[in-house]
Amino acid sequence: MTSSARLRIHRSEASDSAQTFSADVQRGLSSRPKSLPPKYFYDALGSQLFEAICLLPEYYLTRAEDEILATHAEAIIDSLKVTPETVLEFGSGSATKTRWLIEVLLERGRPDLRYVPVDISTAALERSARQLLGKYPTLRIEAYASDYETALARLRTARNGSMLTLFLGSNIGNFDRDEAGRFLRAVRRALRRDDALLVGIDLKKGRELLEAAYDDALGVTAAFNLNLLARINRELDADFDPRAFRHVAIYNEALGRVELYLESARTQRVRIAALAIEVPFERGERIHTENSYKYDLDEISELARQNGFERKSTWFDRQRLFSSNLLLAI
Ligand code: TRP
Repeated sequence: MTSSARLRIHRSEASDSAQTFSADVQRGLSSRPKSLPPKYFYDALGSQLFEAICLLPEYYLTRAEDEILATHAEAIIDSLKVTPETVLEFGSGSATKTRWLIEVLLERGRPDLRYVPVDISTAALERSARQLLGKYPTLRIEAYASDYETALARLRTARNGSMLTLFLGSNIGNFDRDEAGRFLRAVRRALRRDDALLVGIDLKKGRELLEAAYDDALGVTAAFNLNLLARINRELDADFDPRAFRHVAIYNEALGRVELYLESARTQRVRIAALAIEVPFERGERIHTENSYKYDLDEISELARQNGFERKSTWFDRQRLFSSNLLLAI
């Protein structure tokens, strides 16, 4: 079969409509403290900037998880109770690390494996699908360009056969503890007993490594964060001056999370024409844009147990910076 015959891309209107974006921006910038939802980082430029983050020397997470999957893909697949017909991945991005698992499954008697990537960025989905289909001539891809909620709602009605679900890149860390639990329960409802969720989770560690990972010397993470303001300028006809805001990354040890902010360098007012509002900023005032929670193993076990899973096995990179956790649906 040709590549295009093996690919379907479903686009959801609900999740990425201009209306939702403007409502979310309006709500976030009129709350106190101000905040913006992180899912809007990933427009075409934001997705590319994120790919660049993954190559940065300070951002150890991607390399650590890639090392784990490259080294242990066979052991991970061997730990499953059922060989999956479908691999579903939330927040698939470039899907570079996923290849290690796909290759093992294709070799282990699943040449017709179905890969279901879910990502908010249509551009990232198209790019990664094209690459995977070119490389694996029997793989079939059914991609969903949507946010997690929309994909989960679909999944409950559309699933068939055994499934391995992936949530890599410590994306679960971008949820607070309650949201992470809710997400796991929603995934669990879409799975059968003995299906698995492989979840990549960044581990608690010293402040220095963590803060550097989210505030690199070249300023790529700063550009990624500031692009949110540029996006509001582009899509909602606003006049943010990105130079008048500063990227801030702080490890909040008490809460076990790295917090990302955009901090106003001066007192200023920003006009958002499409919303017909003006947003005042004090000097030093921050917009909270992202959290990245860090876990230890006991917390991971507990998160699993409280939400319908059991942590069956965990693999680490050699430096023990990151963890890949196989959770079984119980
Ligand atoms: N989930 C990853 C993390 O928390 C990737 C990520 C999300 C990220 N938002 C980010 C990385 C902002 C850097 C900056 O690390």
